[in-house]
Amino acid sequence: MRSLISIADLTNDEIEEIFLLADAAQKLRAEQPARGQIMATLFYEPSTRTRFSFESAMQRLGGSVISCSDMRSSSAVKGETLADTAKVVSAYADVLAVRHNWDGAVQAMVEHADVPVINAGDGGHEHPSQTLCDLYTLRKEKGGLKGLTVVVCGDLKNGRTIHSLVFALARFGANVVTLAANGMELPQYVIERLEREYDYALAPVAADDLNAVVTETDALYLMPKQPHQLALFTQVDQVIQARLNTLASGLRYDAFYMTRKQKERMKEGTTEGSYPTIGPEFLRQQHFKDTVVMHPLPRVDELSPELDKDRRGIYFKQAAYGVPVRMALLKFLFDRRGAKPTSASPRSRAYESPEELGPQCRNLNCVTLKEPASARKRFEVLFAGEIGTLILACAYCDHRFKVEFIGHVASKRYCAYDQAFAETTRGWLQNHQLAIFDSIKAAEEMGYEPFKSGPQRALMNEAEIKNALSAMSEQILRECRDPDRLLILGVRSAGSQLAQRIALEIETRRGRKVELGEIEIYGSGDELRRVAPAEPDAAPLTLKNREVILVDDVVHTGRTVKSALSIIFRSGRPQSVRLAVLVDRGHREVPVKPNYVGKNIPSSDQDRVRVKLRGVEQEERDQVVIYSIMTPVASSHLSIGGDEKTAVP
Ligand code: NCD
Repeated sequence: MRSLISIADLTNDEIEEIFLLADAAQKLRAEQPARGQIMATLFYEPSTRTRFSFESAMQRLGGSVISCSDMRSSSAVKGETLADTAKVVSAYADVLAVRHNWDGAVQAMVEHADVPVINAGDGGHEHPSQTLCDLYTLRKEKGGLKGLTVVVCGDLKNGRTIHSLVFALARFGANVVTLAANGMELPQYVIERLEREYDYALAPVAADDLNAVVTETDALYLMPKQPHQLALFTQVDQVIQARLNTLASGLRYDAFYMTRKQKERMKEGTTEGSYPTIGPEFLRQQHFKDTVVMHPLPRVDELSPELDKDRRGIYFKQAAYGVPVRMALLKFLFDRRGAKPTSASPRSRAYESPEELGPQCRNLNCVTLKEPASARKRFEVLFAGEIGTLILACAYCDHRFKVEFIGHVASKRYCAYDQAFAETTRGWLQNHQLAIFDSIKAAEEMGYEPFKSGPQRALMNEAEIKNALSAMSEQILRECRDPDRLLILGVRSAGSQLAQRIALEIETRRGRKVELGEIEIYGSGDELRRVAPAEPDAAPLTLKNREVILVDDVVHTGRTVKSALSIIFRSGRPQSVRLAVLVDRGHREVPVKPNYVGKNIPSSDQDRVRVKLRGVEQEERDQVVIYSIMTPVASSHLSIGGDEKTAVP
């Protein structure tokens, strides 16, 4: 039995097969392959196109439909879980089409249903059947998908149709230009997957190219990675320069895929601000003469009515294809009722916590938090994460976040995860000995005790840290071109604290405020934001033409910096980015060179250099310490003893 939850559930060949079936929709209509079958549509969110086209498709195949036009009139209001609903309705229907406002809700239902389930949109996550319609439309209009350049435009953060679409475009070898409304950029988990699974990389697009659509935000070009691209990271400032010099300009834009602002998924008070639109100016531009305009609809005011009459506006055709494509999809799934589930991107190492207080998904809209009774918390463990840390990808909503603490089940010991533990952790995972905790409290509540480590040695005390920050601030101010354009951005959390102190130093010297923000890599909310508690009505940070100082506590492999740069580049186009770090450990996997360094502390992988700061850690004084951590051998034998004295905090 096969279901469709993510576009990754279909291989490229299968998608082509569905398109061939859609081409022969008339024949399917005559053959009535779904005679005697029933589809149930369960829509917990409003819908016109998706529900009607699914229902029409099923009826045209000779089947029938049972439906609840508004699930608020179903037992859901009485508190019935998704799990129970899926179980029950499976007995009444042969296939379920489900739309829900929680990310991962449809995956949760699949796990309890006895019939195929189709995701008709789950929160801000995915909408794979819409993507099939989109790809089918593009193929019809442009003859194929490979090598096309598609601009995805608008609310790329919350638009589920966008997420499924960009994965599919990447799989078929199309290039993607992202043109996000300010603050609505593609989420980190989507970018991370594009980089990791499809080997895509980002480059900025010449601003003039897209001025007819939007002027405030910058576009980014996503394309298959070029071998020389890593070399761009040798000098942070030069990265920007090099990238600006090699802007993707004069691109041939094959399609614009416009989306509406997903207000229902945004926090109150954050829905205002400018938004890209396609209007008369777009229609007049020579370089858009063959650019088709698509939209999953409903539109609000992002497409001008003039476009309706223009041959390039193909969104109504796109909506009409919903029926043949969904007929084809239903036929495809019915034909595979006996088949095992397959996936174009297998979730290889599904991890379930052996301990009750295991890790939680950080996406607050994830079904695992909204209704734990229906979802068995599972994650994919990703080792070679961008920043060399351990990353968990939620099996329901795909959001990714960093592992903070790991534990060994048999010995009930825990410690903060460190890159040097990678091999050990891999072994524990294989032997089902890996526990993961979100906090020390969770580990200790499960009866875990800290691992031991070598003695701790202080490398910088409070006064030295203060002096180093002061010298760095002085240098930053001296070297910047225009202090009014300075934006100090700290990497959360220690980097963010240091950024605040640097900002304060600069303010004291200048007698004026300097703008401050922070970057959270693999966090749950906005990646780039003002430092809390920011003024509640402050506008989102803008990077355009700013002199950004990226601040972190320690630079070692350079991967954190690389990730932070990637967030910066896709959130806007600053004039320059310079890097300030309190400690440079001197070994690099990614060639990143800091511009401002508090202290050079050459150290090996087995060492752990920690910057402890009051304000980040309770009962701590400012200091930098070094200690050696357990070697993989010692930790797998767990012979803890000898001269190890100090607990890893
Ligand atoms: C989209 C959806 O529901 O995600 N609509 C659709 O299915 N055609 C897009 C939207 O609501 O903006």
